[in-house]
Amino acid sequence: MPLWDGRFEGGPDSEMQLYSESLGVDLRLFEEDITGSVAHCTMLAEVGLITEDEARILIEGLGKVRQELREGVFVPGVELEDVHMAVESRLTEIVGDVGGKLHTARSRNDQVATDVRLWLASRLTGLDEQLARLVRILLDRVESDGRTLMPGFTHLQHGQPIWLAHHLLAYAWMVSRDRERLAGAGLRVDRCPLGAGAMAGTPHPIDRGRTAELLGFSTLMENAMDAVAARDHLQEVGSVCAICMTHLSRMAEELVLWSSPGFGLVRIDDAYTTGSSIMPQKRNPDAAELVRGKTGRVYGDLMALLSMVKGLPLAYNRDLQEDKEPLFDAVLTTGASVSIMGSMWKTLTVNRERYVEELAHDFLLATELADYLVGKGVPFREAHHVSGSLVKWCEERGADFSVLTPEVLSDHHRAFGPDALKWLDPVAAAERRSSRGGTAWVEVLRQVTLLRAMDSQQK
Ligand code: ARG
Repeated sequence: MPLWDGRFEGGPDSEMQLYSESLGVDLRLFEEDITGSVAHCTMLAEVGLITEDEARILIEGLGKVRQELREGVFVPGVELEDVHMAVESRLTEIVGDVGGKLHTARSRNDQVATDVRLWLASRLTGLDEQLARLVRILLDRVESDGRTLMPGFTHLQHGQPIWLAHHLLAYAWMVSRDRERLAGAGLRVDRCPLGAGAMAGTPHPIDRGRTAELLGFSTLMENAMDAVAARDHLQEVGSVCAICMTHLSRMAEELVLWSSPGFGLVRIDDAYTTGSSIMPQKRNPDAAELVRGKTGRVYGDLMALLSMVKGLPLAYNRDLQEDKEPLFDAVLTTGASVSIMGSMWKTLTVNRERYVEELAHDFLLATELADYLVGKGVPFREAHHVSGSLVKWCEERGADFSVLTPEVLSDHHRAFGPDALKWLDPVAAAERRSSRGGTAWVEVLRQVTLLRAMDSQQK
């Protein structure tokens, strides 16, 4: 019998029951639901709305329901509709009529809002720990393999020589901003809606501050209607997840590329690759591809969270029941993806010699010739033109920069001196870029120190 049977003649149609139940999704919230109810009971007794004895019976009963759900002894059927009704009806079976007092000065609307915030608070902490681990793994990798020479790409074309460290640090900064964003979203999650009732508050003398305190919230939602109707904190978490997945997906794409034979810069550990059922030679970067693929799902979750609230009149509407599936999916998928990305980076091997030969005479050193001329007082635009004509001169001969001689250089511009060829060294080229944020090793070390210090502060 539904908990609102007083008003109704018949029960819901079985099709309606199946369509409207949310247990398949929200049973995940049973711990939070019971924790919320225990705090509510404690407060009700403190303000005299129930007796100490009643509170004790209810809290003990809730403990039993928690145990039964943990052990899988109590498996609620769809007729109980959602986790809130499942817990309350099992409680009433266990403790009898006093179970009916639990819902005093409360509604499922503030209850579900509270449960989700409690769930999020703990998951966001877990997600932040995963993000911190990923940053640390990237920094460890910078320290172990960062001095690997590679082309920095623009348009996926060789741009300028860089240290692998420089590339990895770019990701470490992105992930560290994901942590900042998550902390910001966490502030908006950390507000207790319990006691808002359906949306208008309650005539009973409850103490909302006390329940907020018992549940570990820093503060409470000041407006009862906002408390039950707002889902912007979910949207914010969804967007933090979506942005974070974008970073992971870019990393994943590069792992796919870099581990392919054409690049051959990294070898992903066997633990994160799979073979092909038909092509024996294959080692496929499936984990990275899945991160890239799951990113699309998390974007979908964010879209669902945004569009289901758009156009909803205040306050609670049943549409909002649909918020949990995308929210849980976004948070859990992001956490798992951050974790596997960390594991891949922790275990892969870097081919440190991969580009040493290849970049020695590569046209990606063309900027060096231009910068050499700039050092001699030639305007950059003119220097750029001269350097471009040297690339053309080599290409016309089917050659690279190895055919350049001091004579060829001075034929192209009188400012080229005999020392110009020394500039065509990719390591020196990387090390010359010591401006703040540049690829030079001093800058790498400065950023590692900074990121490690931020990590210990963010903890
Ligand atoms: N299962 C519901 C949800 O997740 C709980 C709140 C139901 N409230 C209501 N007025 N029907 O949104």
